[in-house]
Amino acid sequence: MHGSSRNFAWAKIHVHPAELPAAVENEFARGLQLRSLNPKFLYNTPGQAALWLNLHQRLSPAHRDDSALRAYTAVFDQIASFTPDQPVEVIGLSAGSAWKEAHLLQRLSPRASFTAVDVSLDLLLHALENTAPFPQTSAVLCDAAHWETLLHDRAERPLPRVLTFFGTIHNFEPADIFPRLRGLLRPGDLLVVGANLAPASHYAEAMAAILAQYNNAPTKEWLGGALRARGAVGETNVHLDSAGGADGLERIAADFAFSSVVEIRASSQGIRFAPGERFPIFFSYRYTVEKLTSLAAQHGLVCQASATSAAEDEGVFLFTLK
Ligand SMILES: C[S@@+](CC[C@H](N)C(=O)[O-])C[C@H]1O[C@@H](n2cnc3c(N)ncnc32)[C@H](O)[C@@H]1O
Repeated sequence: MHGSSRNFAWAKIHVHPAELPAAVENEFARGLQLRSLNPKFLYNTPGQAALWLNLHQRLSPAHRDDSALRAYTAVFDQIASFTPDQPVEVIGLSAGSAWKEAHLLQRLSPRASFTAVDVSLDLLLHALENTAPFPQTSAVLCDAAHWETLLHDRAERPLPRVLTFFGTIHNFEPADIFPRLRGLLRPGDLLVVGANLAPASHYAEAMAAILAQYNNAPTKEWLGGALRARGAVGETNVHLDSAGGADGLERIAADFAFSSVVEIRASSQGIRFAPGERFPIFFSYRYTVEKLTSLAAQHGLVCQASATSAAEDEGVFLFTLK
């Protein structure tokens, strides 16, 4: 959704200190040394953000399948009835371009304020553009590692909050992300999660089809982009990773296989990679409806409403605290 505000006001972007350039470069260097990069490096440059947006617009069920968008609007209607006639604060965690949140704001307007939170400045600018028609929008450049601090610092605001977390839960380890999301909620808050799914009725077959959505040249260009931009030469490999999957879930995983020796410069250090070395760069779990809601329940989150696309490849879930 694009639009420009009739009453344009300067858009505000707040920046957590960990997202200032020297800190980000240090984090990149540390990630290279530990062979474990924060997924933010898939999104946090203009080139990576553009590659991802382009892929997302072509492949995401929510973009190409009306039934997926209807699943979102059905749950947004539930959110409206949970918060009748009262002002609410919508906080978009890993909001990206916030186009799903723009649909939620349309449903709640004019009683909702909105803050987009993400690690990509470029995606936050898209978020501000997509939510420009709505009053009181702002953006925060902040890593998931600092969400608790961010929300704690805003805790004096008395409004009921709707935390959105769309399209990203599958990129975190389940054992980490569910307790963290639970810990962010106050009594009366709502959490709405959108996730890519694989249908339980033909899980293995669906995983093979999902693999094909990642195992192609444009997706590999995006996945390998952060390393290639620093001079890495090699191949991006995408595969199914059942052994690495937690809680009986399978995931798509990708690594970068270096084909020649390279020393990547980051934060005044040289980090050396040898030919044949494989660097893990990505994973994405596929939940089923049952798995996602039961894991959430184990962590004290009650599912109040949910809806899926017709193909059950995307689901939207509304949670409250138990
Ligand atoms: C798959 S995109 C989903 C974006 C958006 N919510 C949507 O549904 O279209 C994942 C998002 O997570 C963000 N992200 C990646 N690493 C992150 C991190 N360490 N902390 C917070 N957000 C992160 C990316 O910038 C990106 O916007």
